Amino acid sequence: MITALSPMAGVTDRSFRKLCVSMGADLAFTEMISVNGLIRKNRKTIAMLPEMEDKTVVQLFGKEPDIFYKATELVKDKSLWIDVNAACPVQKVTKRGYGASLMRNPSLLKDIVKAVASTGMKVSVKIRIGWEDQKNFLDVAKVVEDGGAFLITIHGRTVEQLYAGKADWMPAKILKEKLKIKVGVSGDIFTPNDVVNAYRETNADYIFIARGAIGNPWIFKQSKDLFEKGKFSYPSFEEKRDIIKRHLEMEMVEHDFRGIMIFRKFFVRYMRNLPGSHELKEKMMKITDQNELNDLLDSYFGKLISCEQGGVEGGNIEG
Ligand SMILES: Cc1cc2nc3c(=O)[nH]c(=O)nc-3n(C[C@H](O)[C@H](O)[C@H](O)COP(=O)(O)O)c2cc1C
Repeated sequence: MITALSPMAGVTDRSFRKLCVSMGADLAFTEMISVNGLIRKNRKTIAMLPEMEDKTVVQLFGKEPDIFYKATELVKDKSLWIDVNAACPVQKVTKRGYGASLMRNPSLLKDIVKAVASTGMKVSVKIRIGWEDQKNFLDVAKVVEDGGAFLITIHGRTVEQLYAGKADWMPAKILKEKLKIKVGVSGDIFTPNDVVNAYRETNADYIFIARGAIGNPWIFKQSKDLFEKGKFSYPSFEEKRDIIKRHLEMEMVEHDFRGIMIFRKFFVRYMRNLPGSHELKEKMMKITDQNELNDLLDSYFGKLISCEQGGVEGGNIEG
């Protein structure tokens, strides 16, 4: 079972990727990166690329095969392989012919796969089930396989669904049965049990964790433990505090003074379901200094640590 931090725009920056890999993710994907931005050497686009990272895959979006070719040449030494985005449902993206709109044009998608493969890089493609009027995931996947991709990942929702409704893992199972290439499954994989169930129910080769990793990077190790040993444990308050502080430090190094603002979205999720976290979140939103935030965390977790009695609870396989 291979677990991956799924690509998330505005979330899977270098810090979060490195943190997740250090906590057991087998792979970490960048957010989708514009091939046009790369070949224009746009500063913000270049900043999204991996630097001194292991186990990282660059995801690219665009629509012109020759631009994909040039962009791949630029990022070749920074990525294990290239993932092509044919899944993004955001209108701003699809109306320009990028992302999920490529599912409307499988022959263009095939040319993109071929163009990337012609650089010598391995290629994967991320898709959705399709559009409401055309749930053509199987046809698209066959075309992608034909074009030379080695992996196809499917987020089990239609384009129009965005993130609503429950993700369907069955299309991943169908792809696994019908194709020779590897298959990844994505959608509503939030807990270690979800990871193991998605693997067992679909037989997929790669299990993608997206929102479930935000504020919860230990999910990767927990899933492995559950899969291999049939049980997992939750981090202690002390471990939680240390990871939060480490993550904050990484964001500060990566983004300088903006790091603390960028960290807020993670912080809110780290604090979810912790006692008294509401007041803490309110205080945090006003803090602009890393030391001040570290002091706040020390005092908050200090109280929890002294209350923590005995071991921490764990979990087992759920049916
Ligand atoms: C904030 C956010 C940004 C995302 N950005 C991307 C992206 O850049 N590329 C991509 O292929 N998928 C992107 N996704 C989709 C996720 O990778 C994943 O397929 C989807 O969230 C379903 O998984 P989940 O239900 O476990 O979150 C994004 C999702 C979220 C929530």
